[in-house]
Amino acid sequence: MENNYLNKVYDVSTSDSRELYASWATTYDQEVIENGYATPDRIAKALKEYVSDKSTLILDYGCGTGLSGLALQSVGFKNLDGLDVSKEMVRIAEKKSLYKSLKVFDPDTKIPIYSEQYKIITAIGVIGSGAAPLKVFDDLFSLLPPSGLFAFSFNDHTLGDPIYEEKVEHYVDSGRAAMLHKNYGSHLPKANLKSNIYILKKL
Ligand SMILES: C[S@@+](CC[C@H](N)C(=O)[O-])C[C@H]1O[C@@H](n2cnc3c(N)ncnc32)[C@H](O)[C@@H]1O
Repeated sequence: MENNYLNKVYDVSTSDSRELYASWATTYDQEVIENGYATPDRIAKALKEYVSDKSTLILDYGCGTGLSGLALQSVGFKNLDGLDVSKEMVRIAEKKSLYKSLKVFDPDTKIPIYSEQYKIITAIGVIGSGAAPLKVFDDLFSLLPPSGLFAFSFNDHTLGDPIYEEKVEHYVDSGRAAMLHKNYGSHLPKANLKSNIYILKKL
């Protein structure tokens, strides 16, 4: 299958990405699965090593069609909420019945959760090139309680711009976060892309 959207997504600015995901939604799962989408499983498997209570409610931020939720569920996390800015992507996720609460919001407004609502937030394939801006990193981290976990990924395109890794390093070096896990590995192997996955603990 031709990589219709994978060829386009990384050239799209974060402000235009909603249009792209609106038209990609119905073929997103097929295209990324055919390309071996591995980051959700890598994050889910890493996260389960740091969370003893698998019933902890997790916010799957930028849940899209639910592939990230599926990976979290497959390692035992059963209480998942999903949030995204694309109603078309969320419409596909709804059919999978993975999330207790599934909401769409306008990215020009505040993230519609209250402070310390979630002890664990994931942003899998969400922040960086072709999706959410780096500001989302600060916003999500600020919403966690002390000892809260933030599990996220940056793909090769995102890692090509040093501001993303510098942000993570700044949080760790300034004592705001502890790096529990960082690993570089497969993202979309058939499209020759890798990603870093991270788990940060809020200090
Ligand atoms: C590559 S998809 C990843 C979806 C899902 N997490 C997965 O692993 O398949 C990126 C998702 O981020 C969403 N997104 C883009 N900008 C966002 C923002 N500012 N806030 C929340 N989600 C955003 C898109 O709508 C899309 O569903």
